[in-house]
Amino acid sequence: MNIEEWEEYQHINDAMNDMINSMDDSSQMKSVVGHICRSGGKRVRPIILMLSSQICGSNSEDAVNAALAIELIHSASLIHDDILDEGVIRRGVESAHKKFGPAAAMLAGDYMISKSIELISSYDAPVVRAFGRAGMAMAEGETIDIKSTTGTFEDNNYFDCIDKKTASLFAASATMGAYIAGADEATAELLKDYGGKLGIAYQIVDDLLEYTESTDDKRSCHESISLLQIYQKEMTQGQAVQKATEIAMEYVKMAKEILSNFEPSDARNKLLEITDYITIEMLPK
Ligand code: FPP
Ligand code: MG
Repeated sequence: MNIEEWEEYQHINDAMNDMINSMDDSSQMKSVVGHICRSGGKRVRPIILMLSSQICGSNSEDAVNAALAIELIHSASLIHDDILDEGVIRRGVESAHKKFGPAAAMLAGDYMISKSIELISSYDAPVVRAFGRAGMAMAEGETIDIKSTTGTFEDNNYFDCIDKKTASLFAASATMGAYIAGADEATAELLKDYGGKLGIAYQIVDDLLEYTESTDDKRSCHESISLLQIYQKEMTQGQAVQKATEIAMEYVKMAKEILSNFEPSDARNKLLEITDYITIEMLPK
């Protein structure tokens, strides 16, 4: 599957490029924001938002500003995460703080969060609320993450951490898409649950890739405690990988089952495809 050929991917990239092109270049801000936003990335969260809107009967046009807001807050969180994690490579290039220094990187994160608030402000309250709550959860999750190497960190702490730092934004993307399409609360909750389950599966796989040193598009000096290290205390590395993989697959299954509540459609097919793409298809062969 080539996500870059999807119209939703092109939509979000065009919106991102338009935003960067319209920025004032009297300061370094445009270069720093451009560096992180143009270095690639799968754009999965904004695509999930657009597809969730489509599955509820709306089009991507109404959702594109919210999708851009999601990608901006996500990218800002990666800039901040790389400062905290001492991340040196991100999306295959030098991390923002490595290239421009921590002050410029932090300020670019501030700019992107503020821009995302501007973009989200024209939507109805449930959309804005879901967005704000996701940002709060992410910061809280990251607070749990940075403490993972000191003191007790068991699997319940890990799940709490990834639910907040990662799954919250997937859940918000899906539920915001539903609300933008005018869906009722029950439908928005279903999609929130889909995003939440997918987000958990995604983070377990992401941690697994780091643990097995299977990625070369990102690298950090500081590694947090993940499910793998927790399991490895009681079993071999191979068994820990297998157990974590099985758990991720259970979350993938739950996410897909939620989608079976929706009528068959192109949007549903694409949500099913993207679910596999960022989980099963990423696993080391
Ligand atoms: C990546 O985790 C980081 C996150 C999923 C969340 C980061 C959140 C913050 C820094 C809080 C900032 C909040 C807002 C609203 C901007 P990871 O280090 O496990 O993954 P990686 O391998 O991609 O670095
Ligand atoms: Mg990191």
